[in-house]
Amino acid sequence: MGKTLVIGANGTVGSELVRLLAAQGQPVLGATSRATPGPGQVWLDLASHGGLDTAFDGVDRAFLLVPPGFVDQHLRLAPLIDTARQRGLRKVVLMTAMGANADEAAPLRQAERQLEASGVPYNIIRPNWFMQNFHTFWLQPIRTQGRILLPVGPARGSFIDARDIAAVAAELLLRSDLDNRDFDLTGAEALDHDEVAALLSEASGRAIVYQDIPPAAMLDALLAAQLPRPYAEFLLRILGHFQAGYAERTTDAVQAITGRAPRSFRQYAADHRAAWAA
Ligand SMILES: NC(=O)c1ccc[n+]([C@@H]2O[C@H](COP(=O)([O-])OP(=O)(O)OC[C@H]3O[C@@H](n4cnc5c(N)ncnc54)[C@H](OP(=O)(O)O)[C@@H]3O)[C@@H](O)[C@H]2O)c1
Repeated sequence: MGKTLVIGANGTVGSELVRLLAAQGQPVLGATSRATPGPGQVWLDLASHGGLDTAFDGVDRAFLLVPPGFVDQHLRLAPLIDTARQRGLRKVVLMTAMGANADEAAPLRQAERQLEASGVPYNIIRPNWFMQNFHTFWLQPIRTQGRILLPVGPARGSFIDARDIAAVAAELLLRSDLDNRDFDLTGAEALDHDEVAALLSEASGRAIVYQDIPPAAMLDALLAAQLPRPYAEFLLRILGHFQAGYAERTTDAVQAITGRAPRSFRQYAADHRAAWAA
């Protein structure tokens, strides 16, 4: 059996996916943009597409995503989907984001459409906002001020644990009975950020509160954190979708595909409590 190529193998979803596939004895090859790939990894840069041909050698399945920072996601993915088609891959699982199919012209939707039309057996998974953002992207003000600062008002989100996304991807890569279907992936319940703050407080033993901030203040913070302006503006746009209520919906896809209920936010917070400690 050929290898499974995992894009973003050092990242949140990809690292867990590599771990799950390896634990099942599946041959897996992690892609990295780093000049010196680690063991079991290959160099493939989505900015330049350097390393593309070599990375697909001996591969018959692939997990695709676009790393954060890019706003031309379809152009980053197009040569990978083309290569998957030319090489006759047995399965491609593409991770985009919940809501990506709301606008046919959106870059992520263009990538989805290319894959749908490719003839390669595929699945598209569209996760909702990750729980993991609270110990990565949104961590800084939580650590320094005990505050979650976001411009989303009282809107609720059915946050998903990235470990459940990886579990879904591992299943879909190895199964063919669900081929050519797309799935919105969510946690079991929708929470607002006051509820999130309470769960982070409970887990960390530290008082953490949520503060709604104006979108302009969020943009300033993202730019101060050195995010490229087009990507910061993209994040602002999708935070606006959260604020408008589009992240609230729940689906049963994690349970249906993996046979296991999605992890709760309380479980996520307990597993990462050290991240928020003072
Ligand atoms: N966070 C959310 O709430 C959320 C919600 C829905 C969907 N998503 C989607 O999830 C995706 C991100 O997944 P993730 O959080 O698992 O990723 P991540 O943790 O940010 O990891 C992405 C990995 O991509 C690699 N990378 C960076 N630049 C690269 C390049 N030029 N070429 C190749 N690889 C590169 C990096 O590893 P190396 O250093 O090894 O290259 C990095 O570890 C995005 O497409 C986003 O739209 C996120």
